[in-house]
Amino acid sequence: MAVSISDLHVAFGAKEIVHGVDLTIGDGERVGLIGPSGSGKSMIAKSLLGLLPREARLSGDITMGDVAILSSDGDARGATSAYADERTLADLRGRYVGTVFQNPTRALNPVMTVAQIVGLPLVLHYDLTLTERVERVKAMLDKVGLPQDALLKRPHELSGGQRQRVGIAAALITSPRFIIADEPTTALDSITQRAIVDLLVSLVDDAGASMLFITHDFAVLSRATMRCYVLDKGRIVESGHTADLLAAPQAGPTRELVSSARVLTLRAERVGADADSIDSAEGGAA
Ligand SMILES: Nc1ncnc2c1ncn2[C@@H]1O[C@H](COP(=O)(O)OP(=O)(O)OP(=O)(O)O)[C@@H](O)[C@H]1O
Ligand SMILES: [Mg+2]
Repeated sequence: MAVSISDLHVAFGAKEIVHGVDLTIGDGERVGLIGPSGSGKSMIAKSLLGLLPREARLSGDITMGDVAILSSDGDARGATSAYADERTLADLRGRYVGTVFQNPTRALNPVMTVAQIVGLPLVLHYDLTLTERVERVKAMLDKVGLPQDALLKRPHELSGGQRQRVGIAAALITSPRFIIADEPTTALDSITQRAIVDLLVSLVDDAGASMLFITHDFAVLSRATMRCYVLDKGRIVESGHTADLLAAPQAGPTRELVSSARVLTLRAERVGADADSIDSAEGGAA
């Protein structure tokens, strides 16, 4: 699904956090949004879903596929834009947009089993029999590389990487057309990060879905996306092919993000050989 954000502003009271962001994602394209902590990445992700706190004021236009999520009034300058009705947003969130967040421990309900967590979006948005639902959940566990005996486990019984596999399974079970991944690997060690990014990329590509991948780490971004936008203090300061920005960053904030990624990559490469053997020893289920 194609997504377009145009002249997005987000403010809390008199304080503007996002200052006129333009961003487009083509149908089936994986695009990155990278920026330091506090630059406004999650605000933009939440704007896309209509999930900002009530006190936030927005203006701008957002479309997903052919649905206008957020529309500016067009006449009065500075007027707050309006979201589509709650029913349209809920349908979109439940069926067509999948979200994967940073901290799977907090995002997953601790009292639910893996089967319940992964199956919940189907309960809410699809009219399936129990047998059909269980079959779909089992097939999804296979796809994300989790063993079938994970079905009856609860999140605390899984490793961090396995928990994020559950998060990905729950996000993708409805076959969404657009995935928002907000720092999906930040809470994981570097070996598990690679496995999870590669898994997400292959599932998104197999489904022909598009993705917005949010991170502060260029090393992760270059694995996940071909094209990206660099956000700093609520403004896009640079955009282009991820490999080009990594090789020749122009803007100051991009240069800083690239140099910190180099340090991390060097550190990761030192344990790189071990990492690959661990990946295969665990059958990819890190
Ligand atoms: N409810 C709120 N009221 C006022 N300001 C807020 C609110 N929520 C977030 N902010 C501010 O908005 C700015 C952007 O926050 P945001 O969470 O989008 O950053 P981020 O780029 O996602 O950072 P991180 O990498 O740490 O997740 C921050 O300066 C934050 O303090
Ligand atoms: Mg964030």
